[in-house]
Amino acid sequence: MTTTDHLVRIDAGGWGLTLVAGDDGTLRQVALGVEGADATLDFPASLYPAAYPTWGGGDPHRPAALRVTHADGTLTTRLVLGSVTRTPDDDGEHVVVALRDELFALSVELHSRTDPSSGVLEQWVEVEHHQDGPVRLHEYDSIAPLVMAAPDAEIHHFVGSGWADEWRWTTQPLTPGTTHLASYGGLQPHLQMAPCALVSPSGPSTETEGDVVGLSVAWGGNAHFGLDVRPRPEPGTPSELRIRAGANPVGAEYVLDPGERFVSPTVAWTWSGAGRGEVTRRFHRWTRHRVLRDPERVRPLVVNNWEATFFDFDEARITDLIGRAADLGADVFLLDDGWFGTTHPRNDDTTSLGDWDPDPVKLPGGLAPLAEAAVRAGIRFGIWVEPEMVNPVSELHDRQPDWVLRNRREPHLHRHQLALDPLLDDVRDFEVDVVDRTLGQHPAISYVKWDANRPVTDPGSSALGADRQSNLWVDHVRATWSVMAEVARRHPDVQLMLCASGGGRTDHGTLRHFHEFWTSDNTDPVTRVRMQWACGHFFPGAVMAAHVTRWGERPMAFTCAVALSGRFGFDLELTGLSDDELATCRRAVAVARRTQDLVQMGDVERLVSPVEGEDRSRAAWAHLSADRRRAVLFAYQLDGGPVGDRAEPGSELHPPPALRLTGLDPIAGYRVSSTDLSGEADDGGDAGGDGLVVSGADLSASGLAWPLDRPLTARIFEIDAI
Ligand code: DGJ
Repeated sequence: MTTTDHLVRIDAGGWGLTLVAGDDGTLRQVALGVEGADATLDFPASLYPAAYPTWGGGDPHRPAALRVTHADGTLTTRLVLGSVTRTPDDDGEHVVVALRDELFALSVELHSRTDPSSGVLEQWVEVEHHQDGPVRLHEYDSIAPLVMAAPDAEIHHFVGSGWADEWRWTTQPLTPGTTHLASYGGLQPHLQMAPCALVSPSGPSTETEGDVVGLSVAWGGNAHFGLDVRPRPEPGTPSELRIRAGANPVGAEYVLDPGERFVSPTVAWTWSGAGRGEVTRRFHRWTRHRVLRDPERVRPLVVNNWEATFFDFDEARITDLIGRAADLGADVFLLDDGWFGTTHPRNDDTTSLGDWDPDPVKLPGGLAPLAEAAVRAGIRFGIWVEPEMVNPVSELHDRQPDWVLRNRREPHLHRHQLALDPLLDDVRDFEVDVVDRTLGQHPAISYVKWDANRPVTDPGSSALGADRQSNLWVDHVRATWSVMAEVARRHPDVQLMLCASGGGRTDHGTLRHFHEFWTSDNTDPVTRVRMQWACGHFFPGAVMAAHVTRWGERPMAFTCAVALSGRFGFDLELTGLSDDELATCRRAVAVARRTQDLVQMGDVERLVSPVEGEDRSRAAWAHLSADRRRAVLFAYQLDGGPVGDRAEPGSELHPPPALRLTGLDPIAGYRVSSTDLSGEADDGGDAGGDGLVVSGADLSASGLAWPLDRPLTARIFEIDAI
């Protein structure tokens, strides 16, 4: 065997990692990063750091990725390499590094699934044992790579205050010590922290420069990142950084019986040596390739009634809105909350969840007349459901109080409701049936918004023994995913939107069963620009539903332009639009028809940041077609918002940036047309007019002049090769 024979190389596509077993059999990390899959051994194998540190595995001063109490009470775990298997998987590889405890009957498999065409690596851990009784897993990270030289590391994360504050961009230096970022609440944890992060180990990165590790915990439950920075004793030597990521194990000890298998969440991650833009393009490609349902299908233009009517509607009102939605150019009309409840009609959020029969007062003919109205108007019909929940005031709760997820205490109510326990077989059947019977009301119902409007507050399940109530945090996600998977299997042609009090379920794991998610209930376009900027680092436009609403009472043209850079739709009182507003909405629909394929499926180039630097009063980004023949570029002049947004547009302090768009064909000529949705721009601002012709090289070198000089305005450039 040569020196390299026993190296385990994982080539993730443009980067990778190399592992080796030390003389003592423990798994070591030889290299990580752009050259990470191409390393050779420069030192004896045992001098390299642990690849997946365990508690008791050697270093008592640093956090471990795996902490186990064995059946006999032993607290330490020492893993040695057993075998490595490599299997072709799609166009990548599935590598399993099987480790075993040197003393106890416990195996730990490190799984890696590569996707060379995107450069995103999926990794997870599987644990199994054959001891005399249950083993307790206290910590069970999915990944724990070590960045050996991290001189000035920083992290961009997305911890917010909760509802309507998702995807808040935060930059934090990673100083010596351990930084812990985590979400809680089980259901809708991402309202507190999106399960994604960008780590720049070698100091601040830009769109095009610097090392950046992009991470996504593909998990619908509590997630965590542990970032452990340690200085080195030798002067002048940069610190090292260990990144641990996976399910948040706090309060979620997992009790594993002999012969059973624990599968950790998957963490999807990538390493770019060329800045954050590359991380984004990789995540978008991987999301389309490995996550998203129907990735090639352009998502429909949805009109939702929620913010137009809330609970206050009847058949005539919805029929009228369907007609207006169709007239505006919608593809789908989505009827939101409030359509169900017979004994307890759902006239507000205090009753009826669980009773999924149409309210006979609001909708005497049920959903069928509305679906037929949509068909007559030439559009599709969609419906809102919240299958995982029950109000105490409901027939379901009267019938099945034992279905509630709870312990022996009286459970807290959130939004007047309780969560059902998906670990019960009957509950899972019921949840699938909620969707079946709702869709069964009319064949034209072909779109579903699946909501979940409360966290888990009183964990407990009658399906779990007293010694393992904490398994709930993991088992709840798996059980809920099995329901979602079954719904997707039974209704392959129905498009599904994921929602949890807004963006409470914006993760790549749950998304596997859906087509898109509701990014946030906060649709104030100034806030939304920043949310879409942040969320768009990991999720393509096809996924981020963005609707025009009245939040923030911003000008309609600006509001529409912001929604157009996500999966476009409306959630508006269409009857109350002024003529000018209606004209603006019609212009926006026309732009959507020309550009949504690019927004949803194109490669993103971010140009002007609204979340970093001194001047955060502007934002701009573009979506480019794969063949580089077309692009759409959005420019936004913001106002208000957090500190840092207050620079006067056009001030000396912050001269307007040029819009330099790289990524097009330098020698091709492009026609550039611009649209001002308000119709007020001095230059006409209408894409219908004769556009400027510029070469790809000029667009990248000198770019387009910043087109806006007033707050709350936007310009949309359509760029087409001639
Ligand atoms: C929360 C969602 O985010 C809203 O869009 C809406 O569907 C409400 N729930 C309905 O209760």
